Amino acid sequence: MSPSSLHALLIILFLGSAHALKVPFRVNDVLPVLPHGISWPLLNNLHSAVDLLPSFVAAVPPDNDSVQWRAACFYDNQASLEFTAPGHDDADGLGGAVLRLKTEAAHSWTCMDLYVFATPYRITWDYYFSAREHTLKFDSWEDPAELEYVKRHGVSVFLMPSGMLGTLLSLVDVLPLFSNTAWGQNANLDFLKKHMGATFEKRIQPWRATVDPADVHSGDFLAVSKIRGRWGGFETLEKWVTGAFAGHTAVCLKDEMGNLWVGESGHENEKGEEIIVVIPWHEWWTLALKDNSNPQIALLPLHPELRARFNSTAAWEYARSMSGKPYGYHNMIFSWIDTVADNYPPPLDAHLVISVMSMWTRMQPAYAANMWNEALNKRLGTEVYLDVGLQ
Ligand SMILES: *[C@@H]1O[C@H](CO)[C@@H](O)[C@H](O)[C@H]1NC(C)=O
Ligand SMILES: *[C@@H]1O[C@H](CO)[C@@H](O)[C@H](O)[C@H]1NC(C)=O
Repeated sequence: MSPSSLHALLIILFLGSAHALKVPFRVNDVLPVLPHGISWPLLNNLHSAVDLLPSFVAAVPPDNDSVQWRAACFYDNQASLEFTAPGHDDADGLGGAVLRLKTEAAHSWTCMDLYVFATPYRITWDYYFSAREHTLKFDSWEDPAELEYVKRHGVSVFLMPSGMLGTLLSLVDVLPLFSNTAWGQNANLDFLKKHMGATFEKRIQPWRATVDPADVHSGDFLAVSKIRGRWGGFETLEKWVTGAFAGHTAVCLKDEMGNLWVGESGHENEKGEEIIVVIPWHEWWTLALKDNSNPQIALLPLHPELRARFNSTAAWEYARSMSGKPYGYHNMIFSWIDTVADNYPPPLDAHLVISVMSMWTRMQPAYAANMWNEALNKRLGTEVYLDVGLQ
C-alpha cells in the first residue's frame, strides 16, 4: 500500500476517533446518559430513506465567529468555536477548543436535536432538549494535522434525523478501531476476538522476520492483517463482514532470472490513482516494514503438490495483463454488500452505513468518491462524479 492510501481509505466507518490517554474524548465519555421514561422513536418508524440521512448544517468557523442554522426541534441555533491553551495532559501542546452552541425556540417541549460533530480525526455527538447554551470541549487535538484542519475548515456539524440515537450508540464499538494509537490497536484485537473469535498471539522477538527470497516461490501467498489506524479499523470491519481472517492479500512471483516479485493491488501511480502492480520483493518488504498500520504478515508457501502444478508462465501472463489496472474500488463494497439489509452483522446495519456514508462523503470527499461513486457508476452504467469539495 502506498503511504497516502494508508491515510486515506477508511471505508464504511472511517471517521477518525479519539486518543488513548491524553483523550479529548474517549467515546464512552461522551455517551449521552439516557433519561429514563422517555421513549425514543425507533428506526423502523422512519418513512423514507431520506429520513436517515444526517444533514450537514454548518461548519463552525475557527475564528470565534458564530454560525446559525435552523434545526428540526430548535429553530434558532448558533455556534462558535474558541481555541484553548494546552492543558496539563496535553503532551503535544496542541491545545484544544470549546464549541459553544446555543439552542432557542424549540417547537415543542418534548423535542430534541441530535448532533454529530466531526473533523476527519474524530467524531462525537450530543443531543439537546433544553433551550440554553451548551458547550462541547475538545481537550486536545489528536494531531497537528487536526489543528491545521480545524483552523482552515472549522468543525463540521451534522444534524441527525430523530430516532438515530440507537444507531449512534452502536458506533461505540466501532469508532475506536480507527484510532492510530495503542488503544486503537487493542480495540481492533478485542473486536476481532469478541466478534470473530480470532486471537492474535504475541510471537517471540524478533518481530521482524528475515526472509530469504531464495526460500520463496511463485504462487506463495502473503496474507496481511493490519491492526492499527484507519487501515487497521477498515480491515477489522472488512474481516468481520466478510468472515475472512486477513484484510489484504498479495501473491509472490519469481521470474526466469530467479528474481522475486510481489503482485498486489493498491499502489499509487504518478497520477495519484490506486492501481495493481507487480513490484520487486525488496521494495514490497521495505514498504511493509515502514507501514504504520502495523501489518501482521503471514508468508504462506504453496503446498508442494500444488506448487508442482503451478503454471508460472500463465501466472505471469495474468499478472502482466492486470498490471496498471485500477485498484478495484468499484467492486470493493459490493463484493460483500449484495443485499439491501442482510449483509451487516449487528450492531452494523444499513441505516448506520447510510449515515456514515453521507457524513464521510462530506468529510473525505475524494475517498468517498473512489468507493461508492465508482461502484455505483459501474452498476448503473453512468459516469457521474460528484464534486462535494470542502468549503
Ligand atoms: C469568543 O467568544 C466568546 C463568547 O462570545 C467570548 O466570551 C470570548 O471572549 C471570545 N474569545 C475571543 C478570543 O475573542
Ligand atoms: C502454462 O500456461 C501457458 C500459458 O497460458 C500454456 O501455454 C501452457 O500450456 C501451460 N502449461 C501447462 C503445463 O499447462
